[in-house]
Amino acid sequence: MNDKVVEANPGVLDGLDNYLNLVGAQQPTWLDAESLARVKSELSTQPPLVFAGEVDTLRSRLAAAAAGKAFLLQGGDCAETFADATADRIRNRVKTLLQMAVVLMYGSSMPVIKMGRMAGQFAKPRSSDTETREGVTLPAYRGDAVNGYDFTEESRKHDPERLLKAYHTSASTLNLIRAFTTGGFADLRLVHDWNKGFIDNPANARYESLAKEIDRAIKFMAASGVESSELRATEFYVSHEALLFDYERPMTRIDSRTGTPYDTSGHMVWIGERTRLIDGAHVDFLSRVRNPIGVKLGPNTQVDDVLALIDKLDPNREPGRLTFITRMGATKIREALPKLVEAVRDSDATPLWITDPMHGNGITTANGYKSRRFDDVMDEVRGFFEVHRAAGTFPGGIHIELTGDDVAECLGGSEQIDEATLEERYESLCDPRLNHMQSLELAFLVAEELSDR
Ligand code: PEP
Ligand code: CO
Repeated sequence: MNDKVVEANPGVLDGLDNYLNLVGAQQPTWLDAESLARVKSELSTQPPLVFAGEVDTLRSRLAAAAAGKAFLLQGGDCAETFADATADRIRNRVKTLLQMAVVLMYGSSMPVIKMGRMAGQFAKPRSSDTETREGVTLPAYRGDAVNGYDFTEESRKHDPERLLKAYHTSASTLNLIRAFTTGGFADLRLVHDWNKGFIDNPANARYESLAKEIDRAIKFMAASGVESSELRATEFYVSHEALLFDYERPMTRIDSRTGTPYDTSGHMVWIGERTRLIDGAHVDFLSRVRNPIGVKLGPNTQVDDVLALIDKLDPNREPGRLTFITRMGATKIREALPKLVEAVRDSDATPLWITDPMHGNGITTANGYKSRRFDDVMDEVRGFFEVHRAAGTFPGGIHIELTGDDVAECLGGSEQIDEATLEERYESLCDPRLNHMQSLELAFLVAEELSDR
């Protein structure tokens, strides 16, 4: 990867900016054009966060998942924050994902691709541009890359300097992730250690007994002379919603090996439910970068929408290029998903299908919290597996909002978090996340579904 423009294929650079001619939904209204220009120019000279070769490797891993030979685990915060980019919190999230991956791998006997909603998930689409509290109306919070959460005029201004802070926070987050996952911490022989530091609960206990079985298997392998370096380190990818052109465009660079553009802000980027318009700026821009692309599909998605997205984003039908992330809601998935899956199955495309059982299941509790019922989340996952089983297609992964911390944001789970508990341990600035225990419980459910196949 090279920062300088090296022999881009003719027209590539012009094409990248074509999004400027199209409608770009959900963009900030920056107050200061001069500082925006300075920030964009600075971003464009910063080192890439990920490398084109890693992105290509990920594409081949996702191709395996699309072919039914691997499973994708994608998870992390709804909205990362600058304040929470601490070593402890990042470690807890990585540990939680590693634990879930072990559960899934053991249940499915398949490789699990580990991917954080991390190191870039700093911008949020909103259903309303404003927020009103006690008669005062201010711009909505759009993620730390755009404005502050504090409910003051000053904090809610869209400040381009925040894009630089998002870049640097992503860089330090990714640095720690890379250290954890390649520096010995992710060694499968430490499978018990990942469970330490979390409070005791039924999901942890279940995990412990699985960890014991894994230990035995590893000792057996060692005794029979198998020494695998694969045990010591793990691949770990990062992803986020590619929402802000003023961040993604400067982070897009021409790969010196191939002369093609890569968005170096993350390995995989996705297009949200609110920005996936076929003629919109997001779809156009991401159609021109080489990264694996995800697209969220809500309950109103039509077959024609999906086929048009495939033609635009994956015209060459390249394995691993395109992932559909369905987020239908537990009550709708069994009706809304089959026609999409069947139409794609009967076409020449082979995208990866994964389930996001979070975003179609939002509720507001009587005491005013944005929440989700753990039972609904589980039910959507079950529905996802049912639909794919019936269609003969592969349910290739899950996309989860989670944290390694002991928060109370989603209702239920074996700890039976109720509405009153939300008042004690609700921390998310955006959507409610599964806590550590709920995340492990979900992983066990998915593992059972996978082993039943
Ligand atoms: C999200 O993933 O946080 C999100 C906003 O999702 P969606 O685009 O599916 O609503
Ligand atoms: Co969310």
